[in-house]
Amino acid sequence: MAQLQNDVFLRALLRKPTPYTPVWIMRQAGRYLPEYNKIRSQAGSFLNLCKNPELATEVTMQPLDRFNLDAAILFSDILTIPDAMGLGLYFADGEGPKFERPLRDEKQIESLSAIDPNDQLAYVTDAVRSIKKALGGRLPLIGFSGSPFTLACYMIEGKGGTEFHRVKKMAYQRPDLFQKILEVTSASVIAYLNAQIQAGADAVMIFDTWGGSLTPRAFKTFSCDNLKQICHGLIREVDGEVIPRVVFTKGGGQWLEALAGTGADALGIDWSTDLGSARAKVGDRVALQGNMDPAVLLTNPDVVKKEVGNVLSDFGSGSGHVFNLGHGVSQFTPPENVLELVEAVHEQSRSYHPAV
Ligand code: CP3
Repeated sequence: MAQLQNDVFLRALLRKPTPYTPVWIMRQAGRYLPEYNKIRSQAGSFLNLCKNPELATEVTMQPLDRFNLDAAILFSDILTIPDAMGLGLYFADGEGPKFERPLRDEKQIESLSAIDPNDQLAYVTDAVRSIKKALGGRLPLIGFSGSPFTLACYMIEGKGGTEFHRVKKMAYQRPDLFQKILEVTSASVIAYLNAQIQAGADAVMIFDTWGGSLTPRAFKTFSCDNLKQICHGLIREVDGEVIPRVVFTKGGGQWLEALAGTGADALGIDWSTDLGSARAKVGDRVALQGNMDPAVLLTNPDVVKKEVGNVLSDFGSGSGHVFNLGHGVSQFTPPENVLELVEAVHEQSRSYHPAV
């Protein structure tokens, strides 16, 4: 593998010394950028962007041209897997993702089978190769997937949700059926992430966006066990370089020990958990990624600078921190606040990293 010009992000994920704290932003390519909105309207829809490797490359590169970020992330979506399974993903304007054929009957669930990423999702691996080429070794590229539980939420509800009544009813009443969905989805996630790694992804992240909606016991059975299975199924090294894994359970702050035991190299942390306490619990086993409240970016550069300082000081001195938000950037964020965030992290974090 060609040597990367900037590997600070990968080093931090593996808790190696770095000269400063690396930073990237969840949903860094998206609707808060006017240049994204332009390409999206030319493409006709968000899904057309995802399914066209050339356009996916262009929007992946957009935030990197504006901000001095330390990582690129593949432009795609977690819902590509259920779409490839035939559920029919679509986006109704202003309503988020939906499925035409959500999983509602037993027969449908029994006939689900794992996807072959090199077949139905070749547009994703093509995008990874195309983005790697555009990056030219400048920055590492993050590949990603949803967690089986989070994907199951969308597959059963047919859309995003808050209470997940259909999902929970099935998990409690028909755990056999629910496990069947998780099993097929886990196998798909492993194959999908490994295909992204083989296409050139330098690190991978698993988004367990809805894991925090579960009880502690249900979290173990219906999410954490699958996260562990996935980490154990992933390609560990390519050409002698470790491919780090980040696991992000939103709302998972009370399960950090269990999450650190999944085989993840780093845990994503949302803003409801204190970074210093998280570090005290699991910082000797995993790196931490997070956790500024995305709402801070709705303010102004002075406030952003101050809040960046708070997050850096919450983590404290030394390696093992990747600066990020606690969830995706809002579409209402002024881009100049993101510029300030990235500059402030780079400037202020040097004092937290003793000379390397
Ligand atoms: O971080 C990045 O820049 C990479 C791209 C990325 C997208 N989605 C692009 C996107 C990533 C990593 C995702 C992950 C994703 N998608 C998650 C997990 C992370 C999280 O936010 O919890 C989830 C739950 C989804 C499903 C999904 N896709 C939702 C809920 C939505 C609607 C969000 C919204 O803000 O309206 C999407 C659409 C989506 N995915 C957009 C983008 C840029 C907005 C699409 C548009 O209208 O242009």
